[in-house]
Amino acid sequence: MKRILIIGASGQIGSELTPYLRKIYGSDNVIASDCSFPLKGALSEGGPSCKIDATNARDVADAVKKYDIDTIFNLAAILSAKAEANPMLGWNIGVGALLNCLEVAREYKTALFTPSSIGAFGPETPRLNTPQDTIQRPKTIYGVTKVTGELISDYYFQRFGVDTRSVRYPGIISNVTLPGGGTTDYAVEIYYAAVKGEAFGCPLKAGTFLDMMYMPDALDAVVQLMEADPAKLKHRNAFNIASMSFEPEMIYAEIKKHYPDFVMEYKKDEVRQQIADSWPDSMDDSAAREEWGWNPKYNLESMTTDMIAVLKEKLSEK
Ligand code: SER
Repeated sequence: MKRILIIGASGQIGSELTPYLRKIYGSDNVIASDCSFPLKGALSEGGPSCKIDATNARDVADAVKKYDIDTIFNLAAILSAKAEANPMLGWNIGVGALLNCLEVAREYKTALFTPSSIGAFGPETPRLNTPQDTIQRPKTIYGVTKVTGELISDYYFQRFGVDTRSVRYPGIISNVTLPGGGTTDYAVEIYYAAVKGEAFGCPLKAGTFLDMMYMPDALDAVVQLMEADPAKLKHRNAFNIASMSFEPEMIYAEIKKHYPDFVMEYKKDEVRQQIADSWPDSMDDSAAREEWGWNPKYNLESMTTDMIAVLKEKLSEK
């Protein structure tokens, strides 16, 4: 990776992946783009940026040509619950944007990373220690786009030699940009509530286990995978990666160690509960560990300590 284009740089992952990659590969070598433009703050001040609507192939091709890109990060996505409210939008962004990126990657011989998700699994998938290669019959449009994405990305690799790679992200917990419209968002929002001294209404019921990951590990995963020796990759689209699995009572108890008076109540959201019930409780990530050395650093306890410290500072500045 030398010249990188990030599509969806203002989103939850992009807003942290962009500065992270700029530090490693040099500010001028990481081009941040988003459909909403101009970009704000560090994203626009820290290096080159441009406007890309990834559903328009021309936008993607022009930027790849102009900046001499060798690796595209396609982070454009509509998360699971939001996509249920507008399935066509979910499909057009999830699959339409990816097809454009694949075609541009083929033409200009770039590598391509597009995240997949725990959402690529469904109720027929084994829930515990979900295998790398298993049944994938998701019931959400988000999941349908993710499975389609995995298949078409493998196809472009096998048929045209495009260097496509991907991970199945769990719910990602971060403190810079809030996710929006996802099923796992509660595990971010709960920290904001605790630090602000507010009660939290949890949309998922007690006992709903889901895989989660702290952003620093999610960022490491991308670089490790994209820099991995291709000869060692038996899989490509997409690797299970996991670092922790918890249910609402567990994150609540962990936060209460820092804020003993913090209150969480249950305010069930039917759509999100149904989606969460169709996803794995915990994934087996041994293929990622074996093929490219995946080795996450954070667990629920260390993530909670860090999240609270960062949010305390961030929210007191406002
Ligand atoms: N975080 C996503 C969601 O909840 C799953 O990948 O939709």
